[in-house]
Amino acid sequence: MKYTLITGGSRGIGYGLARECAGRGMNLLLVARQQDTLEEVVSEISKEFPVKVHGLAVDLRDSDGPLRVWEWCRKESYRVDILINNAGVAGSTPFESSDPAYSDDRILVNIRALVLLTRYFLTELKTHPQSHILNMGSLSAYYPIAYKSVYSASKAFVHYFSRALRQELKGSNINITVIHPNGVRTNEGTFKRIDSHSGITKKLFVLELDEISRIAVNGMLKHKSIVVPGVANRMLIIITRLLPAAFRERRLANMFRKELGEIIPRE
Ligand SMILES: NC(=O)c1ccc[n+]([C@@H]2O[C@H](COP(=O)([O-])OP(=O)(O)OC[C@H]3O[C@@H](n4cnc5c(N)ncnc54)[C@H](OP(=O)(O)O)[C@@H]3O)[C@@H](O)[C@H]2O)c1
Repeated sequence: MKYTLITGGSRGIGYGLARECAGRGMNLLLVARQQDTLEEVVSEISKEFPVKVHGLAVDLRDSDGPLRVWEWCRKESYRVDILINNAGVAGSTPFESSDPAYSDDRILVNIRALVLLTRYFLTELKTHPQSHILNMGSLSAYYPIAYKSVYSASKAFVHYFSRALRQELKGSNINITVIHPNGVRTNEGTFKRIDSHSGITKKLFVLELDEISRIAVNGMLKHKSIVVPGVANRMLIIITRLLPAAFRERRLANMFRKELGEIIPRE
C-alpha cells in the first residue's frame, strides 16, 4: 500500500497538507514529537476520510530521528511514494544573545532532517512509477533576514538543495517541488506577527491554511519546480529584486527589530 509521509503533520501547515492529501485519497504517515496530538489527528483523519493513517512520535532533532522514520516504514512495510518534508522551526531573536541550542534546533530540523529523510527515502521513491518530494521552504528563502538569520538561511538552503537535486534527478520518476509560503496563521508566533499587520497587507499577502495546502499539493502533482502561493507574494519577490540588496536587508532588519520590540544598538 502506498503512503504519503508528512513530517510535522500534526499541526499547522503539515496538518493542512495531511487533510488535503487525505481528501485526494492518499494514505498518510504523519511524524511529529507529541504523541497525543498525533494520535488525535490520526483518529480524526481516519474517521473523516476513507484512507489509512499512521503516526510516529519522533524528535527529528535527535541524531537518529530521521533514520527512525525510515526504519519504521521499512519494518511496517509502508511504501512511500510521496515525501513531504514540512517540519520546521521558525522564530526571531537577536543572534548574539541567543542560546546556541536555538540555532541548533533550526539547523537540525529545517536542514539536517530534511536532507537525511530525502536521502533515506530516495531508493524507495525510485521504485514507484511516479514519486514526489515536496520540501517546505518559506518566502524568507529569498531574503537574508536579520534576527531570523539562521531561519532564513536554512530556507535558502532548502531552496538550493531542492533545485539542485531536481536537476540530478531530471528524467527519473522523482519530481521535486519546493514551496515558499509567506505568513500562514499556524501557531502563536505567526498569529502575533500576522495580526500586527494592517487589513490590506493581510488580505494581499496572507493565505488561509486550506488554500496554501491545496496550492502546495496541486503544484507538486503538476511537477512544479517552485511554488509561491499568492499573486501578491510572487509580485513581492519580483519587485523587491529590483531594489538594492543593502536597502532591502536594512528594511527587513528594521521591521524585525521593531517586531522584537527591543532596543538593539545599530552599527
Ligand atoms: N506558518 C508560517 O507562517 C510559515 C511560513 C512559511 C513557511 N513555513 C514553514 O512551514 C513549516 C510548518 O510551519 P508551521 O507554521 O505549520 O509550524 P507549526 O505550526 O509550529 O507546526 C510544526 C509541526 O512540526 C512538528 N515538529 C516541530 N519540531 C519537530 C521536531 N523536532 N521533530 C518532529 N516534528 C517536529 C510539530 O509537531 P510537534 O510539536 O508535536 O513536534 C508540528 O506538527 C515549517 O517548515 C515552516 O518553516 C511556515
